[in-house]
Amino acid sequence: MGPIVLEAKSLRKEFAGFVAVDGVDLQVHGGSIHALIGPNGAGKTTTFNLLTKFISLTAGQLSFKGIDVTGYGPAAIAKLGIVRSFQISAIFPSLTLAENLQIALQLLEKKSFVFWRKSEFNDWTRSRIDELLTQVGLAQDANMTAGEISYGKRRALEIATTLALEPELMLLDEPMSGLGLEDIERISGIIAGFKGKKTVLMVEHNLSVVANISDKITVLARGKKIAEGAYADIAQNDEVQTAYLGTAHKASHA
Ligand SMILES: Nc1ncnc2c1ncn2[C@@H]1O[C@H](COP(=O)(O)OP(=O)(O)O)[C@@H](O)[C@H]1O
Ligand SMILES: [Mg+2]
Repeated sequence: MGPIVLEAKSLRKEFAGFVAVDGVDLQVHGGSIHALIGPNGAGKTTTFNLLTKFISLTAGQLSFKGIDVTGYGPAAIAKLGIVRSFQISAIFPSLTLAENLQIALQLLEKKSFVFWRKSEFNDWTRSRIDELLTQVGLAQDANMTAGEISYGKRRALEIATTLALEPELMLLDEPMSGLGLEDIERISGIIAGFKGKKTVLMVEHNLSVVANISDKITVLARGKKIAEGAYADIAQNDEVQTAYLGTAHKASHA
């Protein structure tokens, strides 16, 4: 794994006295796939919301690439390249896949300080769209509309629109949710392909996916970190078995 890019120290979030995230330390390494798992109500989504500053910290420190970003707002965090995956609702169903990506690329252009000549931007956009579609296995479907492709392919398009923004750190909240087996393979294959190139932090319930593609797994329960490491390590942890897998369920992926 590469050097630490995102570090959270003693993250804490209280909602009217209820502690949803309770002193969590997190170190995300560059180029790694890091999974955040735990039972419902463990504080996973709240942790994501703290990392993007969608909600404010009650206490704790946050640094990104060595810069203290504890006081940053959500726009400043996004500008650093910490990007949460677009939800499917952000995709325009009546536009083609290429057009959906064009919109994302225009967003990127607006945020950058590079001023393109129109023709150069169009050429760059065309080749970038090809590249992005190829990266998520949708090159064949460039001219289909987003509304006529399968749910799994739409999830892949969602990842491509996120990638279009050139994120430094991608936060994916349950990328496999609602997908069938074939689409799970499609999406986990895409995410696995980011290894060594992009940094990914994902909340994911599908443990075989987590076991197969994660470099590091952090387990939360009741707002606290209860275990961390490779799947083989955390699956053997008694506290993890009790809190999450259930005592009777011995992990089969170790
Ligand atoms: N805005 C909120 N106000 C009050 N309680 C909240 C709020 N958001 C989350 N919680 C509570 O914090 C706990 C953690 O929630 P969450 O982070 O969504 O868990 P997870 O994503 O792991 O299922 C839950 O008990 C939830 O009810
Ligand atoms: Mg959640």
